[in-house]
Amino acid sequence: MTRILVTGSYGQIGTELVGVLRKKYGGENVLATGRKKPPAILNEDGPYYRLDILDENQLHTMLVDYDIDIIIHNASVLSATGEKNPQLAYRTNVEGTYNVMEAVRILGLEQALVPSSIAAFGPSTPRDNTPNDVITRPTSMYGVTKVFVELFGEYYKLRYDIDFRSLRYPGVISAEALPGGGTTDYAVAIFYEALKEKKYTCFLGPDTRLPMMFMPDCIKSTIDLMEADNEKLKHRTFNVTAFSFTPAELAEEIRKHIPEFEIDYEPDFRQQIADSWPMSLDDSVAREEWGWKPDYDLPAMVEEMLEKLSKKLGLEY
Ligand code: SER
Repeated sequence: MTRILVTGSYGQIGTELVGVLRKKYGGENVLATGRKKPPAILNEDGPYYRLDILDENQLHTMLVDYDIDIIIHNASVLSATGEKNPQLAYRTNVEGTYNVMEAVRILGLEQALVPSSIAAFGPSTPRDNTPNDVITRPTSMYGVTKVFVELFGEYYKLRYDIDFRSLRYPGVISAEALPGGGTTDYAVAIFYEALKEKKYTCFLGPDTRLPMMFMPDCIKSTIDLMEADNEKLKHRTFNVTAFSFTPAELAEEIRKHIPEFEIDYEPDFRQQIADSWPMSLDDSVAREEWGWKPDYDLPAMVEEMLEKLSKKLGLEY
């Protein structure tokens, strides 16, 4: 049975990814790791260990002791936090990825999956239906580190035949763990405020269009790429998306369920980050090479988000 180690496993994506992987691969075969005390759900059906990705020795020990085949390296400092602390983003995202790729090379692991992001693109990238293979000259520190991830991983594939795979995630919307320190976080916060306060002040302007996906699709894309036939992959880094919307359009969709919901706008430093990213992505390369296809559109995502969150928060709408 394949054994998988996940870093950053208490983050927005890791929290849910670990649960789904454990159902599929068996609880004991999926090692959840992170730097902090994990939420209860991570301890439920498999092991959790404290791991600092900058500690090379600890990483190697864990990979050997648990006989790991695949590492999914989710630990990352996101875009907004990266602008506040570029040095921290460098250490975690660049040095962390270096340690992971080196461990995979030295220990001969089967695969490394290290996510990238729409942040890998920049102001000189065409913003509409952004192709997979196009100029990537980001202007955020987060983006700079993600371009490193892509190029470094692809170099290790060329040079050492390491099975490196990467997804450029769009904004991810979810009802379990909160996202932390990103520019697309508004698309999660808006649901909490819509249910609790019936109003929300958005830190991006009304017409800021960004590519997005709902968590079940994010998990599906991750596992589908991880399980894809290595021989069939011509690329190593893939755009994935489900839909694009603006804060005003998301508010309109929420209003179909909560008619009294109000939104106003106070753009902050994150506006500039969002303005340098694509408005929509062309993910046809992922569709062709490993059969990527999202299940959720905007209305289906909004309906399920409100349903799940209202249960979780014990609020009617
Ligand atoms: N969700 C991320 C962010 O906003 C983008 O990858 O930073």
